[in-house]
Amino acid sequence: MIGYEDVERVLVSEAEIDEICTRLGKQISEDYKDKKLLLVSVLKGGVVFLADLMRKITCDCEIDFMSVSSYSGTKTTGVVKFKKDMDVDPEGRDILIVEDILDSGITLSYLKKVILDRNAASVKVCAFLDKPSNRVADIEAEYTGKQIPDEFVIGYGLDYNEKYRNLPFVGVLAEKVYVGK
Ligand code: IMP
Ligand code: MG
Repeated sequence: MIGYEDVERVLVSEAEIDEICTRLGKQISEDYKDKKLLLVSVLKGGVVFLADLMRKITCDCEIDFMSVSSYSGTKTTGVVKFKKDMDVDPEGRDILIVEDILDSGITLSYLKKVILDRNAASVKVCAFLDKPSNRVADIEAEYTGKQIPDEFVIGYGLDYNEKYRNLPFVGVLAEKVYVGK
């Protein structure tokens, strides 16, 4: 069973997650009411947020997925590779990339450029969490759920070694889980 004892403290509760999705869903519905919105979720972390957010969006929208590999273990190389590309052709579409967290920004700035190069009408970013203090790439999300301090978080799609994605809230990972590993 998943250990709540591995959670140092809760950062975003289930109630706050619902408030955030309602707020962002309302704003996105208004901003895209006359557009051809395509929500593109980045696997795997963005999926839980996508599932909640899309049910708060009232304008027409489609969904798609892509998956990218992490950049050779380091955060500085900037090398991002596709593991799974989108199914839908982004040309002429208004794309909103739905991500779990904007951290260094390397992944999202790469994805944004790739989709823009394919002649999308627009590409914006909706990140559930934002760690601005860790930013390396020049990118900001047009829609942000919550800014958080530079701590390693788990739950609500976010993992540590593929674990904890199914926690219904976002919590700070207890140090004892990773210190000395
Ligand atoms: P970046 O913005 O390119 O550094 O990478 C963002 C990705 O790193 C996210 O999509 C997450 O998958 C992962 N990530 C960054 N910070 C955390 C964290 O605190 N917990 C879990 N995953 C994280
Ligand atoms: Mg991710």
